[in-house]
Amino acid sequence: MASKSSNARLNAWVTQWAAILQPENVYWCDGSQNEYDQLCRELVKSGTFTKLDDAKRPNSFWAHSDPGDVARVEDRTFICSTNKIDAGPNNNWREPNEMRTEMRTLYTGAMRGRTLYVVPFSMGPLGSPIAHIGVQLTDSAYVAVSMRIMTRMGQGALDALGNNDWVQCLHSVGAPLVNGAKDSPWPCNPDNKYIVHFPETREIMSYGSGYGGNALLGKKCFALRIASVMARDDGWLAEHMLILKLTNPKGEFKYIAAAFPSACGKTNLAMLVPTIKGWKAETIGDDICWMKFGKDGQLYAINPEAGFFGVAPGTGYDTNANAMHTLNANCIFTNTALTSDGDVWWEGMSDTKPARATDWHNNAWTPESETLAAHPNARFTAPASQCPSIAPEWQDPSGVPISAILFGGRRRVTQAFDWDHGVFLGSIMASETTAAAGGAVGKLRFDPMAMLPFCGYNMADYFAHWLSLGAKTSAAKLPQIFFVNWFRRDNDGRFLWPGYGENSRVLKWVFERLTGNASADKTAIGFLPAANSLDVSGLNIGTAELEAITSLDAAGWRDAVPQIREHYAIFGDRLPAKLHDSLNSLESALA
Ligand code: OXD
Ligand code: MN
Repeated sequence: MASKSSNARLNAWVTQWAAILQPENVYWCDGSQNEYDQLCRELVKSGTFTKLDDAKRPNSFWAHSDPGDVARVEDRTFICSTNKIDAGPNNNWREPNEMRTEMRTLYTGAMRGRTLYVVPFSMGPLGSPIAHIGVQLTDSAYVAVSMRIMTRMGQGALDALGNNDWVQCLHSVGAPLVNGAKDSPWPCNPDNKYIVHFPETREIMSYGSGYGGNALLGKKCFALRIASVMARDDGWLAEHMLILKLTNPKGEFKYIAAAFPSACGKTNLAMLVPTIKGWKAETIGDDICWMKFGKDGQLYAINPEAGFFGVAPGTGYDTNANAMHTLNANCIFTNTALTSDGDVWWEGMSDTKPARATDWHNNAWTPESETLAAHPNARFTAPASQCPSIAPEWQDPSGVPISAILFGGRRRVTQAFDWDHGVFLGSIMASETTAAAGGAVGKLRFDPMAMLPFCGYNMADYFAHWLSLGAKTSAAKLPQIFFVNWFRRDNDGRFLWPGYGENSRVLKWVFERLTGNASADKTAIGFLPAANSLDVSGLNIGTAELEAITSLDAAGWRDAVPQIREHYAIFGDRLPAKLHDSLNSLESALA
């Protein structure tokens, strides 16, 4: 166990909250392997974890959640800024003092009969100038071990914190054990969840859920919602983006960040295996990207996480072999199926289904069953260091210089005219909702920069912040911005583009635009690949499909303009005038 910190304010904060939460014990996590193993053994004993067969998947565990605790809960996620307008129409706002009182009532005695784990963690390599420290108080050992995979957790983070301030993260599953009550394998409070952020004081309060996106507070709550506000205040970017390194056959390389909404293939793209000869892709991160300006005026990025919390269904050797290799050992699987021979399985892992399994509801399952074996949002929690495609520099404290930013939207492969135009394209991204959040799946919504559920302040101000960064350095040093979509379908609902490894062809075009080796046609919406500039050699794609992917869909864009106006209208007069100007220019160019 780590010693109490030498940071007196941290010790006082822990003591103050322990008095309110009333746990049976307080335990400071040191982040060691011994501690991890011990906590996992306890989780097996309490029934939360089932150990997988060591011969198949060493040191790995299966958990299944309460059926009411399977995803992020956007309707129970709150931003408590002093002024409502600062949370914006993109967030649920609550008055901070009122919310503090409500949370304090909920937290009073919330940890009775449980251990309070003090979890110090660094988002980003220890000591990196781009990294930041948080400390989470939690009554969930599942959360403590998951945080060890997902962050740099323990004594090292405490040492890096020194006497500085930290992002205060409180978490309780909201299920005190009173009067000798027996614990459940997945304690939570399914009908009373709160995911609360106080952006001005950099505090997070989470209650009632054990699901990763709600309970591993370093991830969405800190690294995106709180960090987006820190980034606004201090002139950097905290984004819902993967980071990959792309190397061409000559050995030249570029770093690319890409924003796609939740459960839309960021992990697959981050680990893609190029189908074009001589090209290599390596992974830096699969979900979150923090970018700060270096002394040379370029944006340098780190992956603030140390692990992958990825969607399991749909991940297989044919779709993402690198992810499958990453999952060979030392992982936690939540809401997948458990096979009768002590391994895990999910839809899309393999064509052959296990003859017998336990489904994510903990019921017997066979291929004849009419229900899914794994929940559509079943997750793996895996150390990033185990990924075969991880780039050697993925933990470089200085970060990597970003040359291009990709926004994944509904339309074609497009290169923005410039930074401001790229911000415009990012602000009009739209996507279908997925199982990563509770609520309807498949509903189309505007999801600017894939940050709609994660921007901790008014998105109109967020667009203004993006625009302001464009003026902070010379245009040549800013990343080029691209808009890509591999999910477009034809009239019969079939994908126009094969995706997965073939996306390397689009990445190649992006790379060659950066080096001046690919041609493009200027259109109303941006630069589109010129004829023959997208490498489709050896690919079985029809001329009509190719044409649909690389030409201007003027009618589609004309139809979209009124929807974009409606989307912008929600932000009222806070929306930067430049975005209205870009939309007006687009409309006239399409006329
Ligand atoms: C995630 C999400 O878990 O975006 O990464 O929901
Ligand atoms: Mn995500």
